[in-house]
Amino acid sequence: MKFPPFQHLHFYDDLPPSRFLNISFSDMTGFTLKEFGGFSPSDRDLRWSDVAGMPALRSSIARLHRVPGANVLITTGATEANFLVNAALLGPGDRVLADCPMYSPLRDCPRGFGADVVEIARDCRDGWALDIDRFRKAANRRTRLLVLCNLNNPTSARVTKGELMELLDLAGEHDAHLLVDETFRDLAFTAPPPSVASLGPRGIAMSTVSKTYGLGMLKVGWIVGRPAVLDRVRGIRDYTTGNAPPLAQTFANWALARHDAFVRRACEIVGGNRAILREAIEETPALRGSVPDIGNVVFPHSRVNVRKLESLLLRKYRTVIAHGRFFAARGFRDHFRLGLGGKTSEFRRGLANLRQALRELT
Ligand SMILES: Cc1ncc(COP(=O)(O)O)c(C=O)c1O
Repeated sequence: MKFPPFQHLHFYDDLPPSRFLNISFSDMTGFTLKEFGGFSPSDRDLRWSDVAGMPALRSSIARLHRVPGANVLITTGATEANFLVNAALLGPGDRVLADCPMYSPLRDCPRGFGADVVEIARDCRDGWALDIDRFRKAANRRTRLLVLCNLNNPTSARVTKGELMELLDLAGEHDAHLLVDETFRDLAFTAPPPSVASLGPRGIAMSTVSKTYGLGMLKVGWIVGRPAVLDRVRGIRDYTTGNAPPLAQTFANWALARHDAFVRRACEIVGGNRAILREAIEETPALRGSVPDIGNVVFPHSRVNVRKLESLLLRKYRTVIAHGRFFAARGFRDHFRLGLGGKTSEFRRGLANLRQALRELT
């Protein structure tokens, strides 16, 4: 097994938030322990936890995905969820059709298991819509997995129920599964797309408390799929982590029980930053791209070379953007990602730095 390096993650390693202003993160500004108020799981038995995950937490997740509780497995973050699903379903020579641009582990993890990954590109001129015909043309008898992120990271484009149904049909024709990372699904706010796990037996969803909830340090994620798939996954998880971090699950359970409040919090944060970004893009001739009403990330086009922009921003302004190279093996080199989940004062300052750097390079 040889896994491609996770370049985006390691790029951030050298740019700690204590020294750099990062306006590219995809999470909500962090929720602090203090904000858990009086919640203190002091009577929690720390010796043991249900291997599939804390029952109350699984029930909350099942409700959000509209599936039975038996279809939910708690994992150590969506990162482990992705690894386990790939490990359970893929082997050398299998074909994976991966949405593009996309959060890179969804594309690269299958490569670690020897799968051949075909990136299916979206087009910004179509508003980043999915091109189902391209999926259809690339599918063959070796295809075992189709992978998407809904809402898409880095564009926040939504995949509709109709499109998910078409892709599930395509997966069915090839004895494959459709894996959808639904980490940002709630950020479609009033009209979230349905969970793929509620639409058919070949749909597998995964998600996490890291982003919408701003609880990345808990490292709690989940997989939603049919029990037959989860059994295969669990057979592998016995050798990775055994079960998800039990103490972190009690905090995640508290948060999931307040799901609507967390989504409202996200909506407020993102709403303010979105208005500021729209104005900035309108006033910046070097940038092009619409800022959608949903989601917390945007992927504008830059007329200025993004490598040069990235490097000037880092060197002179200590400000971080996420270059398009992190979201596609090829292509999208003239785009970069911005995140709308940060503190508004910092986002404003970061955008001012970005615009100044663009002026210097034009
Ligand atoms: C789409 C997506 N899925 C998963 C993750 C990671 O999730 P976790 O922190 O639960 O491992 C990220 C983090 O950036 C992400 O953007």
